[in-house]
Amino acid sequence: MNLLAVRAMGSCNRSNPEAWLAGTGSPASVALVFAAIEVVMEGTLQKSLRVSLWRGGADGRYVSYEVPARESQTVLDVVTWVQRNADATLSYRFACRVGMCGSCAMTVNGRPRWTCRTHVSKVASNGQLTVGPLENLPVIKDLAADMREFFDKWQRAKGRFAPSKSRADPVERIAPDSAARRAAAAAIECINCGVCYAACDTVRWNPDYLGPAALNRAWTLVNDVRDAANLERLAAVAADGGCHACHSHQSCQEHCPLALNPTASIAGLKRASARAYLRGELKP
Ligand code: FES
Repeated sequence: MNLLAVRAMGSCNRSNPEAWLAGTGSPASVALVFAAIEVVMEGTLQKSLRVSLWRGGADGRYVSYEVPARESQTVLDVVTWVQRNADATLSYRFACRVGMCGSCAMTVNGRPRWTCRTHVSKVASNGQLTVGPLENLPVIKDLAADMREFFDKWQRAKGRFAPSKSRADPVERIAPDSAARRAAAAAIECINCGVCYAACDTVRWNPDYLGPAALNRAWTLVNDVRDAANLERLAAVAADGGCHACHSHQSCQEHCPLALNPTASIAGLKRASARAYLRGELKP
């Protein structure tokens, strides 16, 4: 029996089931059929989620939607359902859906997360979900945050590799167990999702602060023996708004979906820049 038939039966007059069944079977057996159907309906009918999504720019507001609940549903599935079924003008960002590109990060029930790797069952409280754009960044529209200042800070922290060799030189061998290689390896997997930046209290207080992702990137390059711009990089990250502005609250480490530890990278930059200063390589 399909769901439509079940619904049709549910809406008929239960005190007179014979009328619906046109005289087939005894009233007692018909009542038994109804009882069985109720059990089936309870298991079959979809439960739904109450989802509040941020709509508009910085002066927008949360708008509520009723979304069908599904098994193994992610927060990104929920947002996509709203865009495809309730309002096609909803803006949000995603690409890979498997935790590789870092583009789907949003604020879910008050916490920055990758929405493609966050199951609704883990975060919804009483079937309620609130999803907004990443914090500490301007809002473009709806759930899409403007990442420009995030990547500008990457540039300010000299987050680009500066080769010390040309392609004519032989490939440089890096010992996998060297201290510098291991320090770089511990921080290199960052995919720039912006979760740590959105979670950082220091960014919230001090918009000039470079933030955990840019400083984490700088630390990987400081540990890259092939790089030729490390003094310049240390000067950039030791300036105002750089590593010394970090208060080590560790929100970045707590929220990083890859379990990286940008606080440790920033502490490494503090030590490296202090050493360079004591050697007279950096000016106060
Ligand atoms: Fe790529 Fe979520 S869509 S990390």
